[in-house]
Amino acid sequence: MSVKILAIESSCDDTGAAVLADGKILSNKIANQSVHEQYGGVIPELASRAHQENIVPVVDMALKAAGVKKEDLSAIAFTQSPGLIGSLLVGSCFAKSMALALDIPLIGVHHMQAHVLANFIEDPKPAFPFLCLTVSGGHTQIVLCESPLNMRIIGETLDDAAGEAFDKSAKLLGLPYPGGPLIDKYAREGNPSRFKFPEPRIPGLDFSFSGLKTAILYFLQENVQQDAAFKETHLADICASIQDRIVSILMNKLVKAAEETGIREVAIAGGVSANSGLRKALETYSARYQWNYYIPKFEYCTDNAAMIAMTAYYKYLAGDFAGLDAVPTARAAF
Ligand code: KG4
Ligand code: ZN
Repeated sequence: MSVKILAIESSCDDTGAAVLADGKILSNKIANQSVHEQYGGVIPELASRAHQENIVPVVDMALKAAGVKKEDLSAIAFTQSPGLIGSLLVGSCFAKSMALALDIPLIGVHHMQAHVLANFIEDPKPAFPFLCLTVSGGHTQIVLCESPLNMRIIGETLDDAAGEAFDKSAKLLGLPYPGGPLIDKYAREGNPSRFKFPEPRIPGLDFSFSGLKTAILYFLQENVQQDAAFKETHLADICASIQDRIVSILMNKLVKAAEETGIREVAIAGGVSANSGLRKALETYSARYQWNYYIPKFEYCTDNAAMIAMTAYYKYLAGDFAGLDAVPTARAAF
């Protein structure tokens, strides 16, 4: 009998549902929440309410698109942590109710582990052990993966995440939230060497982005004082220079991690892995250092339920199930 899993992702502001059969994704649906745009960031209370409205139609869409009936499911998976607690509660309560009604197992998934395992949704897949640079709106980590369910963080940010560095820089430039994709867009037209932003000196494999944010703030304040239209006139060059620095901070630590571990299988994951500058840099560095590199398809980089389903599949095979008393948490180690 084949293993069919319905997975639900509700850690932040997107409601996702996906169906997997024997390790293959059959459907992957998402409802984005536009309600936050006007506030320049995610409002947790509004996110929980929107999940409540979206979850039933998104799950229905995923099952329908997969051609799978509820009665044929083998397990229900949900994002247990980390994330906004109100958002996680909607997904976990829904998953528990469905598992209880269908009398099938429940699987709790760690969102950051799932971002890493998004690299296993399609071929080619990384060979173990591999390094994964996971860069999202809330996290920046270098993860050493020994097997699908055995991974550990060997470097992480001490303050802002890479996605936050993009989004906060965009905000300083007057761009709407989330600004990461917009910086990427304008950077394509700009000169990355035009302006120089500082690289922090952080020991080991850890990252820091808060100094960069401050440097950009002062740089803009100073220049706007002299030329009110500075931001608009030089938008492309500013975006390209910011992106170039964020990417070099990330890549320099990844090179260090590869040197220290001797690992040449290198993957990226998370929303910021959609960034064209980072993707290009990974390609260039891989040629230089003879790495095999892996980048998930765009829809599996940003938050999605397919990666939750993939992780749940490995947990199903390992018999790693959650009880109906499983509690979602805003923070948690792998
Ligand atoms: O993984 P994700 O979808 O959600 C979290 O778990 O946080 O990541 C969202 C982050 C946001 O900060 C967004 O600005 C950033 O990913 N992002 C990008 C790009 N696409 C998404 N940052 C830079 N360039 C992009 N193309
Ligand atoms: Zn995420």
